[in-house]
Amino acid sequence: MDFTPVDPRTREFVAGLPKAELHLHIEGTLTPELRWTLAARNGIAQRHPDIQSLKAAMAFEAPDAPSYLTKFLAAYYEGIEVLRTAEDFRDITVAYLARCKEENVLYAELSFDPQAHTTRGVAIDAVMEGLAEGRRIGRATHGIETNLILCINRDRPIDTAMDALVAARPFRDEIVGFGLDSDELNNPPIKFREVYDRARSEGYRLTAHCDVDQPATRENIRQCLDILRVERIDHGINAIEEPSLVDDIRARGITLTACPTWRPIDRAPRRVDRIRVMRELGLKVTLNSDDPGLFSSGTLGRMLPAVAVAGDFSDREMGEFMINAFEGAWIDRELRDAFVARTRDYLARAAV
Ligand code: HPA
Ligand code: ZN
Repeated sequence: MDFTPVDPRTREFVAGLPKAELHLHIEGTLTPELRWTLAARNGIAQRHPDIQSLKAAMAFEAPDAPSYLTKFLAAYYEGIEVLRTAEDFRDITVAYLARCKEENVLYAELSFDPQAHTTRGVAIDAVMEGLAEGRRIGRATHGIETNLILCINRDRPIDTAMDALVAARPFRDEIVGFGLDSDELNNPPIKFREVYDRARSEGYRLTAHCDVDQPATRENIRQCLDILRVERIDHGINAIEEPSLVDDIRARGITLTACPTWRPIDRAPRRVDRIRVMRELGLKVTLNSDDPGLFSSGTLGRMLPAVAVAGDFSDREMGEFMINAFEGAWIDRELRDAFVARTRDYLARAAV
């Protein structure tokens, strides 16, 4: 449900704004509807009798952090069991990129979780083939540019992280970045030092999640900066609590991919006040939808009008978030400059 009233002018401005998404789990775009379609196609029984029951179950209550993330991830991993074949990975990607086209999202970096699939017996080849085909169709049909980020699940044993990196070697050219996601509690970045060293030596761009309000969040952000040596942080909002983190993030030009998503139990976008503070501190912050199939906020174009209103962000500020995203994107200079120019042109024409 949306409880933030949005005026038509804001809606129109945001609809036309060129957009980029840097923090999106492709598996997290699985809507209940697509989950049901794929479950039927693959003959996979669902614990919930119907879509409505699943949606009701997703409105679970839990203390914000860290418990909510743990419960959320359990639901996320249960849902993605319907992804079995290359066609499934193709279809989820095409469905998302069709949505990007509708919402004027010009560029998206798709994170994916290989361990969540290979541990269920799905071959990495099927995952990669489906994602590649989905991206090809997305570009040919909708003109959307994409890149892939291989995410390690931090709550799985460390040797399986290295195995996932090695298994991705044949697909190295298709994957731009390397990230870290899943349950942060008791899984600090330092656990992944060797895997990150290897990913860096293989030329991957590096990011890692520092989820919001996690118990060791400031220590974990520090480890991401100094041990994993990332160039982006996913979320990273709690950095504003520690001036030395703010200084280092700013000095190193690190982009923070914030997610003002809201859940079925929320009434409005979350984190907008802290995102404003990030801007005021001169941090490069972007707005992202994270898991639009599971959050009530949905996809980026659907989420942003309410974020503009709830955060009291002006048109210019909304434009600057998108410029930050294009500038922080892992694409070549020419494409990046073209996206930024297109966004600036839109802002100039909108006279903001
Ligand atoms: N946080 C951490 N890991 C995740 C998430 C998230 O929101 N979504 C999918 N994997
Ligand atoms: Zn995420």
